[in-house]
Amino acid sequence: MTKPPSPPRPRWGAACVIGWPVAHSRSPLIHNYWITRYGLDAEYRREAVPPDQFKDFIAQLSDRGYVGANVTVPHKEAALAVAAPDERAKVVGAANTLWLEGGVLRATNTDVEGFIANLGAAAPAWDRGLRSAVVLGAGGAARAVVFGLLGRAVERVHVVNRTFERAKALADRFGGQVKPFRWSDLDRLLADAGLLVNTTSLGMSGQPELAIDLAPLPADAVVADLVYAPLKTALLADARRRGLRAVDGLGMLLHQAVGGFERWFNLRPQVTEDLRALVEADLIGT
Ligand code: ATR
Repeated sequence: MTKPPSPPRPRWGAACVIGWPVAHSRSPLIHNYWITRYGLDAEYRREAVPPDQFKDFIAQLSDRGYVGANVTVPHKEAALAVAAPDERAKVVGAANTLWLEGGVLRATNTDVEGFIANLGAAAPAWDRGLRSAVVLGAGGAARAVVFGLLGRAVERVHVVNRTFERAKALADRFGGQVKPFRWSDLDRLLADAGLLVNTTSLGMSGQPELAIDLAPLPADAVVADLVYAPLKTALLADARRRGLRAVDGLGMLLHQAVGGFERWFNLRPQVTEDLRALVEADLIGT
């Protein structure tokens, strides 16, 4: 006997982003844009929740009227323990999206598909014949990027980090295709790289610039920065000056939001130029 189809999920309800602090989050701007655009009877809010209250807050998520939530710094690792994570969230070691499904709170990591979808949109065919990628940084964002790259059959991922031990721990987590390196290895790694990704906090407003020499990169390489505040980082400006394809962090922010919205409100939203312009305007001056 065939299983009856499960009832469609509602197109109403509330979702939120949980962080500490959370004022800087652009997720409300993105999701409320879609809510209005698609005429849903829904709302997306900010919830400032300190780490010692995170578990209790999540336990009451449904009672508070939420059908799901985004989770941001510093709760992305803690989110794994308060919900049922999928394989990808487990491997990455962090979750950014929670949703209720049949009374069970589930968790995934949409940074992975956000990174890959944005690369596809901004640098078509970026992975054609790609043999080696260099990832700068070894935190949660780097783990999501590496997971995404391995899903696209990139032959080798070279993880370069200030603290070598963290790069090694990341590589150990993913197996032989991922190798850890030191900052001093960068020149020789770039010479062979079709993709360079910055996942460090260098270049963010208030942080030092990422000062690396892109000269060794092949002419057809793609340079991606996860930093989106500011939108135009020194790394991307340098890449553009050299005629390399440059991919900014705003696209990933927009694309990672799709999976949450779809799960909460049963509708897959589009990342459009209008939405990008709205968030870009909000980032001016950052
Ligand atoms: P996330 O989870 O968002 O990726 P994170 O775990 O704090 O954040 O990681 C930040 C990354 O930026 C790390 O790779 C960090 O390097 P260390 O592991 O050596 O700390 C990197 N980073 C931050 N400040 C840096 C700096 N001044 N120079 C080089 N790397 C830096």
